[in-house]
Amino acid sequence: MKELLEAARHVRQFAHAPYSTFKVGAAVRGASGAIYTGCNIEISSYSHTCCAERVAVFKAVSEGETRLVACAVITDVSPPAPPCGACRQVLHDFGPDMSVLMANTAGEQQVMALRVLLPNAFTPDKVLDVLRRT
Ligand code: THU
Repeated sequence: MKELLEAARHVRQFAHAPYSTFKVGAAVRGASGAIYTGCNIEISSYSHTCCAERVAVFKAVSEGETRLVACAVITDVSPPAPPCGACRQVLHDFGPDMSVLMANTAGEQQVMALRVLLPNAFTPDKVLDVLRRT
């Protein structure tokens, strides 16, 4: 988790957040052990903005990871900010058992299970079940 947090802290410098000025760094660890990083990328039309966590997950999946085991996210607010709802769902699809480390630049940290952050989650098997029935 320490290595994951350092990766998230490092990538936060690349956050493209000219509209909100809220810089986020994230890192996920794949089942292979590899780490993938992401920062938030804001787009001038706003709604196309992508959160740091999702950038990290999409990088991991596009590099061949199918299962993620942990996520670290760092901002500069206190208490440390948790992933937004959309990111919780994306993280859950690839790692329902993962731990999420939330941290800030002042050194505060909190670890929570994703299952606690997103209870009773919608899961890929629900969609796959429907496909199997057709
Ligand atoms: N943001 C993230 O990167 N992750 C989250 O989980 C919440 C929000 C970003 C999106 C936007 O660029 C900025 O923070 C303000 O919402």
